[in-house]
Amino acid sequence: MELLRIPSVSADPQYSQSVFQAAHFVEEALIKAGVDKTELYSTPGFPIVYGEKIIDSKLPTILVYGHYDVQPPDPLDLWNTPPFEPTILDGKIYARGACDDKGQMYMHIKAFETMVQTHSLACNVKFLIEGEEEIGSSNLDGFVKNHQDLLKSNIILISDTSMIANDIPSINIGLRGLSYLEVELTGPNRDLHSGVFGGAVANPAEVLSRLIASLKNEEGHITIPHFYDQVLELSSQERESLAKAPFHLEEFKKDLGIEECFGEKGFSIPEQTSIRPTLEVNGIWGGYIGEGAKTVLPSKAHAKISMRLVPNQDSKTITELFTKHFLSIAPKSVQVRITPHHGGEPCLTPMDSIAYQAADLAMTESFGIKPIPQRSGGSIPIVALFSKVLGIQSVLLGFGLDSDNLHSPNEHYGLFNFYKGIETIPGFHAHYLNLSHEAK
Ligand code: BES
Ligand code: MN
Ligand code: MN
Repeated sequence: MELLRIPSVSADPQYSQSVFQAAHFVEEALIKAGVDKTELYSTPGFPIVYGEKIIDSKLPTILVYGHYDVQPPDPLDLWNTPPFEPTILDGKIYARGACDDKGQMYMHIKAFETMVQTHSLACNVKFLIEGEEEIGSSNLDGFVKNHQDLLKSNIILISDTSMIANDIPSINIGLRGLSYLEVELTGPNRDLHSGVFGGAVANPAEVLSRLIASLKNEEGHITIPHFYDQVLELSSQERESLAKAPFHLEEFKKDLGIEECFGEKGFSIPEQTSIRPTLEVNGIWGGYIGEGAKTVLPSKAHAKISMRLVPNQDSKTITELFTKHFLSIAPKSVQVRITPHHGGEPCLTPMDSIAYQAADLAMTESFGIKPIPQRSGGSIPIVALFSKVLGIQSVLLGFGLDSDNLHSPNEHYGLFNFYKGIETIPGFHAHYLNLSHEAK
């Protein structure tokens, strides 16, 4: 509750002090939980919190990654309770970051504390908790490259994803990547009277709408040339296996308040949101958006556009393909400026590993059912980097639900999920140790 009260919004400079405060809180929490040492690594942005307890250098080491920063809380008027005053209602904690990722990260600290207190810690543990995940982890990127010894471990354990349902546990085996760009269109050199000039001058807001609309066809296929060239197609066997996860279309639509879904033809909704790349307009603006009506032909129009990527797409290549295509289709009536934002690479985590097996056993014990492997649509860019730079794989052992309103108003995290996580994590540690012994 105390951590959730700290508004550690990394994207907005107004909250900067709170982000530092959250870093200190996490460091203190690690010390109280029983780590041998901690270090707050400062970066040009927000600090990276490190902590470790090495009980025996011969034992396997689990590196726990998580993030203490959160998304901005807006739109504030859509929250039923204030985002930074955590409130428990119907067995759920409502607050920004309750699930993503303060609640899920904190489960590891509490599970660790329990293992220390009951003298049952099975493996060495390292914690790496960052404060810039929601803005692209750009400083962690460099930190990982420069601290390979410090981060040396056998497996990375992350709770920052979701399960299918509280009675259908699942383990994540893939994340999408991300390319994010901002486009600015400039038409006339100033805002114009729409009566005096309208009719003869291209309206950048209209041009932008047409350009964006043309990026996808009626079948939900993205029209950027070569966009799909690198996409790893799944075999029908792999698709069949993923289709075993239950999905209820009517519930899905009802929950979102939509009558019809729209997505790439030829793929199921769970496939559209996990194994297929997409393009989304995150925001679009320009011209007069204040009260009442102002007759104006705007000079500028803007949009923030992102593309979710799948293996083996590469964010740099996709950003280039987008830029080249967008510039080529823009009419001469507007000038185009494209600014790339942070990106991230997609990844797959192995299922034929002792780490996956340990996660499977731990969940099977705590939930009483075998978890289903599932690929997720979200992104955690550092996971691909851990594998590339450190050569260490991750296990995505998330306990959230897609209905927890991550990044939305009224984010929440079930107390059931919080305690189930704390119950499951020591099982992972113990099984991981046993399985690594057996593997030898
Ligand atoms: N925890 C999420 C990612 C996530 C959520 C994965 C649900 C799977 C299921 C993470 O904090 C996040 O929001 N990542 C960003 C990417 C980042 C570069 C801003 C995202 O996916 O938009
Ligand atoms: Mn997260
Ligand atoms: Mn997030």
